[in-house]
Amino acid sequence: MTEKFPEILVTGGAGYIGSHTCVALIQAGFMPVIVDNLSNSHPLAISRIEAITGTRPAFYKCDIADDAGLRTVLECHPCVATIHFAGLKAVGRSVSEPLETYRDNVCGSLSLLQTLRSRGINRLIFSSSATVYGGAEHMPIPETASIQPTNPYGHSKAMIEQILQDLVTAAPDMAIGVLRYFNPVGAHISGEIGEDPQGIPDNLFPYVSQVAVGRREKLLVFGDDYDTKDGTGVRDYIHVMDLADGHVAALQRCLDTDGLFAVNLGTGQGSSVLEIIQAFETVSGKPVAYEVVGRRPGDVATSFADPSKASDMLNFKAQRDLTQMCRDAWNWQQRNPTGYANR
Ligand code: NAD
Ligand code: WQD
Repeated sequence: MTEKFPEILVTGGAGYIGSHTCVALIQAGFMPVIVDNLSNSHPLAISRIEAITGTRPAFYKCDIADDAGLRTVLECHPCVATIHFAGLKAVGRSVSEPLETYRDNVCGSLSLLQTLRSRGINRLIFSSSATVYGGAEHMPIPETASIQPTNPYGHSKAMIEQILQDLVTAAPDMAIGVLRYFNPVGAHISGEIGEDPQGIPDNLFPYVSQVAVGRREKLLVFGDDYDTKDGTGVRDYIHVMDLADGHVAALQRCLDTDGLFAVNLGTGQGSSVLEIIQAFETVSGKPVAYEVVGRRPGDVATSFADPSKASDMLNFKAQRDLTQMCRDAWNWQQRNPTGYANR
């Protein structure tokens, strides 16, 4: 008889962080059940998860707001918990199309939560973001810092956090882990799965790797006049597989303990844009052409986590350094120069 592993509903599991977390879940003895509407992902990610782990997770193309569709999934798969990644993450688009972001993130989460409640699934991990801290004044940023987002995307995350807090107050038998990610980067070491942005990347790492592979001419460095070590923006980059391990640790706590906790997932180390360029050049052996231009509106000079709560509460510490982040991002980029679409 085959052993039955606990099933975990993973919304947005075909996406960047979700696919890596599915690998970590399988390797930790859980069975992901993925629902994703594929609005920002490719179904090939599911086959790649199988290629890495030898296990093919169940996959349903389904929107989180589709109550009937989700119920059908959950009738086949009695999941013990949910990891909720599904949502829209593009900050610029959230400014130009706020209703779209609020509908997908806030209305989608509300609908999902109602479906989960009706099925008695009361353990949940939620993908929040360091963006909820806005322009925090003191570094490193602890979880007790003010929640003061500066764009509709950040507001949508803060709203969902508030909804989850109110839900736990009303239903103390629930267990909810709110994970505030800093800057997830890199890829699985196999190069099978990685970040596959549609169109021009908004974020630094995929842009740098597309310049290194020759897909873009040069990086625009948004400002070198910040009050930082070299004038460029400083961020807390965390390897996506460390982030994935953080989800497994948070899930294990949620399976054991009721109530809500919110933790940062970061390394506690800040790296500048110029340091990233240099690290990437060293690892890839390719030049990364760049030009310094004006600051990007809404950017802060510096953001890095106080990771001590995740360490104390979840026994989680990021293990992979910047070299490994660059090496794995570069391996993914070289093996998949145009993302999932090239195979
Ligand atoms: P992603 O876009 O790669 O993954 C999100 C997935 O959700 C995609 O596969 C998309 O198709 C799916 N999706 C979107 N709306 C859906 C809906 N209504 N129903 C079903 N599926 C839906 O993004 P990611 O980088 O993997 O981010 C995952 C989560 O983490 C998001 O909630 C994001 O806001 C959050 N987050 C990401 C970062 C980051 O820098 N990548 C940082 C902090 C927080
Ligand atoms: C990093 C640094 C830029 C691109 C964003 C979201 C945040 C979160 C993570 C989801 C900054 C500089 C960038 C480029 C550059 N996502 N840069 N040229 O802004 O910290 O966070 O992604 O929750 O909500 O806002 O990350 O990778 O865009 O930028 O010079 O082409 O690189 O100015 O200093 P950011 P990023």
